[in-house]
Amino acid sequence: MPDVVRLGIVGTGSITLRGLLPHLTMEDVQDRVRVTAVCDPVVERAQAAAAKFGVPAAYASMEEMLEAGDVDAVSIASPIGFHFQQGMLAVEHGVHVHFNKTMTTTVDEADQLIARAAEKGVKLVSSPGEMLNPRLQAIKALIDQGALGTLTWAVTGATFGRYHENEARVRHGTDPLSNVNPAWYFRRPGGGPLYDMTVYGLHAMTGILGPAKRVTAFSGVRIREREFQGQMLPTDMDDQTLMVLDFGDAFFAFVYGVAAGGLPNMGRPLIFGTRGVINGDTLNGEPIDFPGREIAQQYGYTATLPHVVGKHREMEEAHVYEDVMQLVDWIREDKPTVATAEHARHVIEIIDAAYRSAETGQAQTLRTTF
Ligand SMILES: NC(=O)c1ccc[n+]([C@@H]2O[C@H](COP(=O)([O-])OP(=O)(O)OC[C@H]3O[C@@H](n4cnc5c(N)ncnc54)[C@H](O)[C@@H]3O)[C@@H](O)[C@H]2O)c1
Repeated sequence: MPDVVRLGIVGTGSITLRGLLPHLTMEDVQDRVRVTAVCDPVVERAQAAAAKFGVPAAYASMEEMLEAGDVDAVSIASPIGFHFQQGMLAVEHGVHVHFNKTMTTTVDEADQLIARAAEKGVKLVSSPGEMLNPRLQAIKALIDQGALGTLTWAVTGATFGRYHENEARVRHGTDPLSNVNPAWYFRRPGGGPLYDMTVYGLHAMTGILGPAKRVTAFSGVRIREREFQGQMLPTDMDDQTLMVLDFGDAFFAFVYGVAAGGLPNMGRPLIFGTRGVINGDTLNGEPIDFPGREIAQQYGYTATLPHVVGKHREMEEAHVYEDVMQLVDWIREDKPTVATAEHARHVIEIIDAAYRSAETGQAQTLRTTF
């Protein structure tokens, strides 16, 4: 077991520049993890990121990075359509993997990855590790104790809006670190609001309520092109999906990933029962108690995650840093995590099944649990 995990980062776009590199190059974590390499096909971006954050090596491809042999683990932060192939490549090299959501786009790919990683003794951690959050753990405990009576239905979802076209500092400049084009978010495979955004609510919902049993959905493309810096970016991946999950025994959930417009005042997730409702951090309008509640009020929920301490609390995208540190602890101390590949696979199956349901007009029975 290495004392200091040597980490490579695959893709030096928005989340790497705003989240992974700022957190993982902070002084306080250098005794546990060191970013030793980055790679990006836009090699000037990889080089500029390496120079800015003091990373020793920058490569044009993941293959070159792995061949150089200076990484024990990678964090994959490329467009989602590459994650399966790149995850398999790391596994074949015996390199541990953290996936920035989503791990793969289909359940069959997730099966292959998990099986091969087990054969190779490789550890997989998949974002988003929502159930690391003390607020969601407290909600799960309340529900398990019967605070909502008999559960009746639940809601979660997310809205693309123009978030990725407008991301601060990385999309609208002229140099390689500030001109990252978000076109892939709207293309197949891997684009669309479900894999990128609704995935958070689905992790939280299934983390609290357990695995779903069936899915049915409508889905399609509503906004066919999006303006970005004077060009029109085409959309061929569905940007509108409304689905219903069946948890069994007539307990259902409504889940959406849409181009614009969200439900008002919706916590992540909203859960109803015969004795009331959990919304955000309230039970029937009263605050829920959880460890770090005061910290959350000051800095937000991510500041209550176990590794998000000190300066990390004030920095953006601390949840991705937390998930990487879950892998680091697992490698160094053999400490397992709840941000498992199996949980990610179940969420991926829900999304994959929603698209299949929309195509076929048939409800899909789910086969995975976690
Ligand atoms: N942007 C966010 O707010 C955010 C937050 C959390 C997680 N994420 C996740 O992080 C991942 C990356 O998102 P992003 O917003 O940083 O994307 P981005 O478009 O900003 O950057 C992607 C980078 O990957 C590079 N790239 C393209 N093909 C590649 C390949 N084959 N190998 C390596 N690199 C390649 C691109 O050149 C670009 O630099 C996604 O999985 C996303 O869901 C994003």
